[in-house]
Amino acid sequence: MKDKVLEGFEKIYGKRDDVKAYFAPGRVNLIGEHTDYNGGHVFPCALTIGTYAACAKRDDRKLRFYSMNFDNAAVVEGSLDNLDPENNPGWTAYPKGVVWAFEKKGFKLDKGFDLVIYGNIPNGSGLSSSASLEVLTGYILRDLYGFDVTNQDLALIGQYSENNYNGCNCGIMDQFAVAMGKEDNAIFLDTADLSFDYAPISLKGCKIVIANTNKKHKLTDSQYNARRSACEEALAELQKVVDIKGLGDLSIEEFEAHKDAIKDDDRRIKAKHAVYENQRTIEAVKALKDGDIKKFGELMNQSHVSLRDDYDVTGVELDTLAEEAWKIPGVIGSRMTGGGFGGCTVSIVKDEAIDEFKEKVGKAYREKIGYDATFYIVEIGGGPTVL
Ligand code: GLA
Repeated sequence: MKDKVLEGFEKIYGKRDDVKAYFAPGRVNLIGEHTDYNGGHVFPCALTIGTYAACAKRDDRKLRFYSMNFDNAAVVEGSLDNLDPENNPGWTAYPKGVVWAFEKKGFKLDKGFDLVIYGNIPNGSGLSSSASLEVLTGYILRDLYGFDVTNQDLALIGQYSENNYNGCNCGIMDQFAVAMGKEDNAIFLDTADLSFDYAPISLKGCKIVIANTNKKHKLTDSQYNARRSACEEALAELQKVVDIKGLGDLSIEEFEAHKDAIKDDDRRIKAKHAVYENQRTIEAVKALKDGDIKKFGELMNQSHVSLRDDYDVTGVELDTLAEEAWKIPGVIGSRMTGGGFGGCTVSIVKDEAIDEFKEKVGKAYREKIGYDATFYIVEIGGGPTVL
């Protein structure tokens, strides 16, 4: 891939000696969904698939972007003097948003750059192609311009740009997982204070299998922001009766004792998911540490049911993939991952059951939904890097 982006760079912008190649991963979340904007826990890991880039600084204030993912794409031009979100639509709003966010935080770019990217995360799959591109851009800026920021800062800057430039009110999970990824480890992150632990993932005799619904969706278009607002309103109601900073501060018992403070049935049920899912995540990580993969899988399944019945972010495509997976004895656990409304499921599947999984789930999906799902066996990779 390094050669591919370097060759792409040369073809588009001409030969340069100072061009460098970079990579940032995508991510999959194993459990802890829609908890990250509620001060709860998440348990994602970085993947070995991600976004590659070749980049070099320019002598003027121009910015040029080219994606090798689109056939016969044109170079998109921009300028450091025109970073207004209103004037910068399309995919380049992600890297431009990060430049804009760096400048907002006081890190001014003296010169522009030429950038080529190539990603092998399926687009719109919920495996964080946007967070990958954001963190990649931040990583490149740090490397080329010498900005004094940590990987955790790169995650926060990426989230800031996504919230304020791209209009998605996402939490910190995706950018954090991408920026802080560690090979063969998942990240047990407490989003209340960003404290975290790496948890080694050794799935003896099993693999992580992703199934993509191939449903076209976009988080900003979806009801993601509406779910977040419902949780924030529920929190404000609960704060009148109990001293908490986020829904993640509540145990299940505390939630049940105080839930009547939430005056709307729908809001109460959304808040219930956030509280229960957070506790489930803590329990799941403990089960994994104790070597109880069966329990971990059961909690994954329960997570999907809660996202389906209470949080209402799955849809027939994700439900079909998860529910068909549960029927196969060699499936340890299966659930939707990411924001929902399309995207992917993540399943832990015994090695000997993987072919059966793909065949049976794939067939049932095609019959019910009318088009194919795609399956990938993924590996847990590290964070962003110079190639
Ligand atoms: C998306 C968001 C994350 C998180 C998940 C749901 O991936 O970007 O911040 O909220 O949805 O867990």
